[in-house]
Formats: sequence, structure tokens, C-alpha cells
Amino acid sequence: MNDFEYRGGELFCEDVRAKDLIEKYGTPLYVYSRKAISGGFDRLSDAFRKIDHLICFSVKSCSNLGVLRVLKEKGSGFDIVSGGELFRIEEINADMSKVVFAGVGKTNDEIEYALEQNILMFNVESEQEAERINSVAGDLGVEAGIAIRINPDVDPKTHKYITTGKSENKFGVDIERGYDLYKKVAGLKNLAVKGIQMHIGSQITEIEPYVTAVGKIARLAERIKKDIIPLSYMDIGGGMGIVYKDEKPFDVPAFAEAVIKEIKSLGMKLIIEPGRYISGNSGVLLTQVQYLKKSAEKNFVIVDAGMNDLIRPSLYGAYHRIEPVSKRDKSSVLCDVVGPVCESGDFIAKDREIGRVSQDDYLCVFSAGAYGAVMSSNYNSRPRAAEVLVDGNEDIMIRKREEYLDLTRLDNPNI
Ligand code: LLP
Repeated sequence: MNDFEYRGGELFCEDVRAKDLIEKYGTPLYVYSRKAISGGFDRLSDAFRKIDHLICFSVKSCSNLGVLRVLKEKGSGFDIVSGGELFRIEEINADMSKVVFAGVGKTNDEIEYALEQNILMFNVESEQEAERINSVAGDLGVEAGIAIRINPDVDPKTHKYITTGKSENKFGVDIERGYDLYKKVAGLKNLAVKGIQMHIGSQITEIEPYVTAVGKIARLAERIKKDIIPLSYMDIGGGMGIVYKDEKPFDVPAFAEAVIKEIKSLGMKLIIEPGRYISGNSGVLLTQVQYLKKSAEKNFVIVDAGMNDLIRPSLYGAYHRIEPVSKRDKSSVLCDVVGPVCESGDFIAKDREIGRVSQDDYLCVFSAGAYGAVMSSNYNSRPRAAEVLVDGNEDIMIRKREEYLDLTRLDNPNI
């Protein structure tokens, strides 16, 4: 069974009717399926079962504590990129020995916080960062586990905003400089050099460039292990793509087999950092039609979810499938689905054929579990949406809808 499916023309998430969730919680509303989240984790874990591995869920893709708790219970580790994300996983009592910390701009405070929490390792993105971590660890009298993020200069053939592994991107250390940097960090006395890391981009659908990059990193790791220092962890990042529209599904078993072939002889523990693969199709955004409006050129369906709730269409021109929550008949309309925000760039879909809806009907925006709620903002002073987790025939509110007071709570009007 699909975790989101239509039964008799009505959308269900697992065994809960979407309409019932809307009546209970209102719109816009993010809805996640526990089964879908667990299923994504299990598919990856199963594909890599032949090699010692650790899945570190990428918190940035969906950082709600309820969702993180589901993954923690599955035994997942976490890939974090900020002190805030570290705080989130501390709040769910995550196992810190399964946590990796990436990002090009780690501050002293963030490094200190992560060292106090005893995380597995920092994925270091520059020489200066290695020196800073060494010095903060020295001040605290501890050793910091690190891997160096190597930029393999491989084009993952995805959107340019979410490509990270080409030499023009800000991430990681050029592969040519990797060997020398390992020589240097091996001599820094407060660092425990544990591994090597890469992440070439997001929403990757072709496994071939990804496997090529893994091969490049594996060969570098082999030289480093032979000449410089033993390495225990091979972290190949995230980026496994999902189906939004008609993409070729990312072939996880074939990918796992190819990766295992590349790295098996190294005897290192594999880390993967999937975000979207687990969360993307595990969540949807439900929204209500406010108005239908016709201009000389277009039909507009104006809904109550805007770019502040889901920015992917505006930011990347991303495609999200949209369907009525209740399907009456097969008729459809060519339209732009737009939000209430005062920007022409505020749209969820352009020139899209969708099932016909009337004022006050509801629409479902699919594949919104990753980089949806996490990228939402209060622009136009719009309270952020509520989030609900469905588990079988139960629903649990995992984030309250913000209220107007939440918008002004931190402002100081007393000037
Ligand atoms: N590891 C690192 C170091 C990353 O930078 C990322 C994502 C991931 C893992 C997880 O990638 P995933 O498996 O989710 O593809 N906002 C964009 C995506 C940005 C991805 C940033 N890094 C979007 O909405 O498409």
C-alpha cells in the first residue's frame, strides 16, 4: 500500500483521511507518514546490509523533533550543519556517537558545543577549519574526531543550486589538495583523524556520477591509509533522488552494490547522509483554495499556502505534484497555483493541468516532506504551518500552528 493514496476519490495518509486532518488542524498543514519515513530508512539499510554501515539522516531536510524521533528509534544517526540542529537532536536524546557535523562556516561556539556533546566527527571543509577545531579541542582538553570533506570535482547532473561536488562550489577541499591536507592534520595533536567524506549534490537520479565520485575518494583514502594515517569511516554524503514527477527512480540496490564494490577492500565503515530520500515523499502540504481568478491570459488558483510555506517552486523552479484532496470527477483546468504572498514569484505551480476545484476546496502538494517546512519563513508576517505525523489510524500533532503572538514575541517595540 502507498502511504499516501486515494480511496474512493478521497486522499488518505496511511489510514487517516486527509479531510479529517484538515478539519482538526486547519490549513496550510504539513502531514508526514511514519510508515513512509521508516520505509525509506529500511530500504537504504537493507541495500547496504552487506557492509558495516551507519545511516546519518540529514536533519536539514526535515528537522521536526517528532520526525527525528521516529528515525532515532530506527537506529539512525544524524548529519547536522549547525548548533541549532545539534540542539534539536540533543532534545531527542540522540546517540551522539552517531553524529557527523558538516558545513563550511562552523563557529567557535558551535565547535565547542559539538565537542561537549562528544559527536562522532566533524566533516571539515577547509584547512583553517581544521586548525580552529584543533585549537578549540585543545582549550577544552579533548580530542576532536574529524573527516575531511573532499570535493571530487564530479558533476552530479542535478540543479545548479544543489550541486556541491564540482570545483567551482564552496564545499570541501579540492581532491588534488586532499592528500597534503591529511598530512597536515595528522600532525595536529588535538585531532583524531577518523575518516574521509564527500557529498556531491542533492536530488541525484543517475547513480553513475555518484559512483565515480565514490571511486575517486576511495582511491585517495587508500593512499592516505597506506602513507599517512589509518581511516575508519568512509562517508559518501547524501543526495539520493526521489520521484517528484517522472524522474527515473534512484536505483538504491544497484547503487549500494556499486558503492560496496568500490570500497569493500578498504575495510572502512560506510556512512551515508540521506535526507530527501527518507523525508521527501514522506510528507505532503495540504492547502485550501481561497479564490479562483481569471485574467486575460491565465486561470489562477489562489491557495492559503505561499512561498513562505514551501519555497522550492519559487527558488528552484521545482515541480511538486498537486491534486485535489477530494476528487469529484476527471475534469481538469490549466492554471497557475499561487499563494497569498505579495511577490510574483509566489507560486506552487505554473501552467499546470490540475483536477478541477472550487473555492474552499482543498489541494494536496505532494513530495513536500524534504526542504518544505524547514525552509519556511514568516515572510509577510505569516504564521508557520502546523505539522502532523500519521501512524496507522492515529495522528499526532508534532508542531503547533504558530500564532500571531509568535510573530512579535522577540521584537522590542520600546524604542
Ligand atoms: N549531506 C550534506 C553534507 C548535505 O549538504 C546535504 C544536503 C545532505 C547530506 C542531504 O542531501 P539529500 O539526501 O537530502 O539530497 N534545499 C534544496 C536541497 C539542499 C541540499 C543541501 N544539502 C532543495 O530543496 O532541493
